[in-house]
Amino acid sequence: MDIHHIHDVAVQAAKNAAELILSDSDKQKSVNYKGRTDLVTHTDKKSEQMICTVINESFPDHGILAEESVPHLPNANYQWIIDPLDGTTNFVHNYPSFAVSIGVHYKKSPVVGCVIEISSNNIFTAIKKEGAFCNNNPITVSSEKDLQKSLLVTGFGYKHGDKWKANMNLFKSFTDITQGVRRLGAASVDLCHVACGIVDGFWEFDLHPWDTAAGILILLEAGGIITQMDGKGYDIFQNQILASNGQIHGAMLKNIKPIIDSLNH
Ligand code: IPD
Ligand code: CA
Ligand code: CA
Repeated sequence: MDIHHIHDVAVQAAKNAAELILSDSDKQKSVNYKGRTDLVTHTDKKSEQMICTVINESFPDHGILAEESVPHLPNANYQWIIDPLDGTTNFVHNYPSFAVSIGVHYKKSPVVGCVIEISSNNIFTAIKKEGAFCNNNPITVSSEKDLQKSLLVTGFGYKHGDKWKANMNLFKSFTDITQGVRRLGAASVDLCHVACGIVDGFWEFDLHPWDTAAGILILLEAGGIITQMDGKGYDIFQNQILASNGQIHGAMLKNIKPIIDSLNH
């Protein structure tokens, strides 16, 4: 299988979807609720259909795990993992942080990633072992070693339970000891912002595979490190993540530990 062909199809599918989302962003949004604050629009669904059509035409024997549909060919070696509109709440409010995210995994390992940050039209891409790019220019994580001089980003999921409260505490404690913590509302974009070095670390509870499937490859290929928040190995079916430039990873883990320990008691 030609990985560059898979990459090109993923980028083209993401570009088509980004164009649709951009053109819908000026229109009246039709919003439905998956939960009190968990929104979905017609645009999410149209974007997903467009992406799936392109994949099915090019790779009919590949599997698809997409946010708004039932899984297709879940046992196939190649799996396309799609967030057709990451940051739907932002999209509904016209807050400029939303994206399309397409990751391709081969035997559970990420091999291609594409995230398009729609307001800036930044196209983040990666192929395993071939580096990470923004608009075809190579990107790397920051070289910041000092947590106190770092800028971090996090997100808050839709369930307001114990982890959500724990994240409020983490938000406070990291705000106290860094140069700041941002909360933009699109996890795929957050990962790409670590990958291109404009923030130094990202953590979040309660994520889904489609939030991270593309961004993790882009970050790893940009030189970053990804674990769970207790330091164990991460895969996209773990619902919490710690991603950083690598340099501040140990210091972040140390500060997160008491909060993770308190959650486990
Ligand atoms: C959400 C965004 C947000 C994160 C949530 C996700 P959606 O995705 O990535 O940043 O905090 O946990 O569910 O619902 O807009 O695709
Ligand atoms: Ca998402
Ligand atoms: Ca989504």
